[in-house]
Amino acid sequence: MKKTILTGLRPTGNLHLGHLFGAGQNYVKLQDEYEFFLEIADVQALTDNFNNPEKVRKNVYEITMDLLAIGIDPKKVNIFLQSKIPEIAELTVYYSNLVTVNRLFRNPTVKAEVAQKKELFGNNGESITYGFLGYPVSQAADITALSGEVVPVGDDQLPLLEQCREIVRKFNNIYGETLKEPEAYLSNVTRLKGLDGNEKMGKSLGNAIFLVDSEEVISKKVMAAVTDPSKIKKDDPANPDICMVYYYHKLVTPDSELKNVCSECKAGKRGCVSCKKELINNLCEFLKPIKEKRKQYEDNPKLVKDILDNGTCNAKKKAEDTLRKVKHAMKIDY
Ligand code: TRP
Ligand code: SF4
Repeated sequence: MKKTILTGLRPTGNLHLGHLFGAGQNYVKLQDEYEFFLEIADVQALTDNFNNPEKVRKNVYEITMDLLAIGIDPKKVNIFLQSKIPEIAELTVYYSNLVTVNRLFRNPTVKAEVAQKKELFGNNGESITYGFLGYPVSQAADITALSGEVVPVGDDQLPLLEQCREIVRKFNNIYGETLKEPEAYLSNVTRLKGLDGNEKMGKSLGNAIFLVDSEEVISKKVMAAVTDPSKIKKDDPANPDICMVYYYHKLVTPDSELKNVCSECKAGKRGCVSCKKELINNLCEFLKPIKEKRKQYEDNPKLVKDILDNGTCNAKKKAEDTLRKVKHAMKIDY
């Protein structure tokens, strides 16, 4: 019997290289060994994008195509849409009784996100919504609805998983052994830095390469990347280990070429402009097969919709089964 994996993504933007190296490549590996459910968490995305439904809707398809393009195989992975599974919403209501409001306020992930979203939730989080505060409960419903045993997440998500485990234990204590306690599987041990050296990558920061970026966009971003600041002239020797261009070379440049980049940089035999041009070229080569695969889906939106429908149908069956057990345990199976 294969173990069940459940993980999710908020459809709020396209995938970038950080997603690919942090998590995506890992999913592609895991898809052979596990029964895999990959949730497009549109309901969760609305908790901090309730005022922008078009963005969420558009990105449901964008992110699905990105996932297929990087090699997620829809025959092996059930990619499903959260809003099409009302059982998850219903479980959220039942689990809400098992979590205190104080505990949610203390959740480090929630706290960090509220601090980042001042425009939405106020300078001190005074305008936080009930929905956003409660999203960890809804995420616990995502995981348990599909009986997720293993949950690949980044370290920023660990407090959410811990919250889920607490809910599961409390549920089982009160209503009898019903739900499985999930385990985290840390998937982005090597969190990728942005081209500016920032630990965080994002569209608004302009420091991330998205899988859908054109050569022109990639050029612009790489040309603005942070290099060894002590290198001023073309033939100054420099330290590649503090250069973001070299950092990205390490991801996409073939080993033999990479050795040259390193030694030439140290010896002052390489100009940063040509070094960047080489990186742009290698990034484009790396992304080429991904883009080609994506194009097949872009040209066939019906296929993308069918893949989502099929994954959702499989996920719904499992969620219905969980909900039946939960209602029975809670004595509301009238
Ligand atoms: N909160 C996750 C994120 O922002 C996305 C997510 C939704 C998720 N449901 C999940 C992750 C269930 C793991 C399990 O990245
Ligand atoms: Fe970075 Fe290349 Fe310039 Fe060296 S030569 S500092 S590796 S961009």
